[in-house]
Amino acid sequence: MGAEHPGWGTAARSPVILAGKRLLITGVITKDSIAFHVAERAQREGASVLLTSFGRVRRLTERAAQRLGEPVEVLELDVNKPEDLAALTETLSDRWGSLDGALHAIAFAPQDALGGNFMATPASSAVEAFQTSAFSLKALAASLEPLMSGGGSIVGMDFDAAVAWPIYDWMGVAKAALESVSRYLARDLGPKGIRVNLVSAGPLGTLAARGIPGFERLADLWRTQAPLGWDIDDPGPVANAVCFLLSDLARGITGEIVHVDGGFHAVGAPAN
Ligand SMILES: NC(=O)c1ccc[n+]([C@@H]2O[C@H](COP(=O)([O-])OP(=O)(O)OC[C@H]3O[C@@H](n4cnc5c(N)ncnc54)[C@H](O)[C@@H]3O)[C@@H](O)[C@H]2O)c1
Repeated sequence: MGAEHPGWGTAARSPVILAGKRLLITGVITKDSIAFHVAERAQREGASVLLTSFGRVRRLTERAAQRLGEPVEVLELDVNKPEDLAALTETLSDRWGSLDGALHAIAFAPQDALGGNFMATPASSAVEAFQTSAFSLKALAASLEPLMSGGGSIVGMDFDAAVAWPIYDWMGVAKAALESVSRYLARDLGPKGIRVNLVSAGPLGTLAARGIPGFERLADLWRTQAPLGWDIDDPGPVANAVCFLLSDLARGITGEIVHVDGGFHAVGAPAN
């Protein structure tokens, strides 16, 4: 094995699973972002990567982009702006001509939609959470579909929406919608060879997560209950699963939710 065998790295002589893949990674804001770790891992697995960001946080994303193994470009994308989505299709078409995969790592809910305010949240805030965190998976997929005529893989980030959680409130409802959106996308894009899956992660100490009032309560639940244990400061296992789903190793998988949560979802109470 070696240079003559595509898909096998030469330096470490170990297999890489994303050799030659062109991937769009949304959702990097700092180097703690889950998406940053996916971008880092994807590069190590042989992929070329472009990031997206928007507005005031763009400078933070650009700083993070410089800290990747190979510094990369940041494209403008507010996922709620049709003009940004149209420009993204055009830019990617100019830059690469085609795309093999994308990570949707985008979520937002107004403060009054989180943190124990469920009964008092106005419809406008719930709708905003839904649009940015769930509908946006369809919006992004629609803008990338023309670039994936040879098939592709789209992965989104979930937090288990099968049950109600403390504090997660309308973001939990938005995640339930995201789970459903991913299944409808799998239905409509599967015949075109485009797979759509979610990774349902345990709590990780990112900017978005720490912004949820009471996040520590969720983190404590995981510490006591996850059969494998859970480190809120280690997004590595989540990034690994995303890279697997972006790779051809997962070519028979779509409409799936892969739980990377230390096994928390499988047990109803702590063992001891
Ligand atoms: N951190 C956790 O505990 C956890 C657990 C499970 C799932 N997730 C999910 O992982 C994903 C990434 O979150 P994270 O924890 O890495 O936090 P993060 O704050 O690092 O990332 C959230 C990203 O969403 C982007 N975003 C928000 N509104 C946007 C818009 N209108 N257009 C484009 N981008 C927009 C932000 O710029 C940011 O980059 C989210 O979907 C989140 O719900 C996080």
